[in-house]
Amino acid sequence: MKTHRIALYPGDGIGSEVTDATATVLQAVADKTRAFQLTFASFDWGVAYFERHGTVVPPDYLTTLRTFDAIFLGAVGWPARLPDNVTLKPLIELRQTFDLWACVRPARTFRGVPGPLVGAPEIDLVVVRENSEGEYLDVGGRFHAGAPEEFAVQSALHTRRGITRALRFGFQLARQRRGKLTMATKSNAQRHAFLLWEEILAELRREFSDVTTDHQHIDALCMNFVRRPQTFDVIVASNLFGDILTDLSGAITGGIGLNPSANLNPERTAPSLFEAVHGSAPDIAGKGVANPTGAILAGAMMVDWLGYPAAAQVINDAIQRVFAGGGATADLGGKLSTIEFTTRVVAEIKG
Ligand SMILES: NC(=O)c1ccc[n+]([C@@H]2O[C@H](COP(=O)([O-])OP(=O)(O)OC[C@H]3O[C@@H](n4cnc5c(N)ncnc54)[C@H](O)[C@@H]3O)[C@@H](O)[C@H]2O)c1
Repeated sequence: MKTHRIALYPGDGIGSEVTDATATVLQAVADKTRAFQLTFASFDWGVAYFERHGTVVPPDYLTTLRTFDAIFLGAVGWPARLPDNVTLKPLIELRQTFDLWACVRPARTFRGVPGPLVGAPEIDLVVVRENSEGEYLDVGGRFHAGAPEEFAVQSALHTRRGITRALRFGFQLARQRRGKLTMATKSNAQRHAFLLWEEILAELRREFSDVTTDHQHIDALCMNFVRRPQTFDVIVASNLFGDILTDLSGAITGGIGLNPSANLNPERTAPSLFEAVHGSAPDIAGKGVANPTGAILAGAMMVDWLGYPAAAQVINDAIQRVFAGGGATADLGGKLSTIEFTTRVVAEIKG
């Protein structure tokens, strides 16, 4: 039986609560399926680490993480204690250095979880977010600081290679699902970048003629996520657009605590990183009420990525049964604490 080494980076706020929940569930599924073993090493990086050491992570954190089979992140950030641009810098650096270019974020509705939309449409979509370039490259500067003529330049960089691989990933995923791909664009206002995205979409369409495609301006796409979310299958978006869309996809399925995220290096030249879509939620940190679903489902994506789709399915099924049986945390209108919810998931896994 193979043993996989997992790096845990719980981070800040509710990060440690949802990471503990996920590790507990992963251990239960490893015990149940006997298909693999996991060993965990936990790193106490983040805001508290900064308060002790003056940096969010140690200088060799990338070298340390590179030796693992996968990385599981809780969440990072606590704006009242440290500016986000400091706390989140290592995460963005990690995604770019390890070339975690495919950010895969499924969002679905669950029986037993009330959604906020009228008519309770059944939602089952995946956003593929380009994760290595676009609007999140650290390119730009501030000039004439404090003067009336002060200005900031924040550039985005969209490469043919980066767009092509993100779209190709989306096409391949759509083929395994319902065969529909929607691309987020904004070519009416940002013609340099998004006309390139549209041209590459048109080129790839010929290769993937079995997949139905369209492209929608990001503002209309957001509106359609709310108006008719059931019509979407796979959505491919640039870094910023994908980031925004996946808070919205969380909200329309019932809450941001529900959705997982996989930051993949599809060439497997570096460990991939798994996390929930939500942030560190300082407003509820330490209260024991965080919904661990998104994190646990990210754990399932990690197990799948490591080569155990059946074990991932065991976790997904267990979550569905807990919801269907009326178990839910406070954000979904339920009464369960993080630990109580996790205990129910583990009980379902054990059968
Ligand atoms: N990948 C990451 O680590 C990541 C992602 C997004 C935001 N952040 C950071 O997280 C911090 C807080 O950001 P924010 O408040 O904008 O977003 P957030 O996702 O942390 O919280 C938004 C709202 O949703 C609630 N919420 C979030 N996750 C929940 C869960 N699992 N269960 C129940 N309720 C949940 C919070 O209580 C809050 O009211 C910031 O520092 C931000 O930069 C980090």
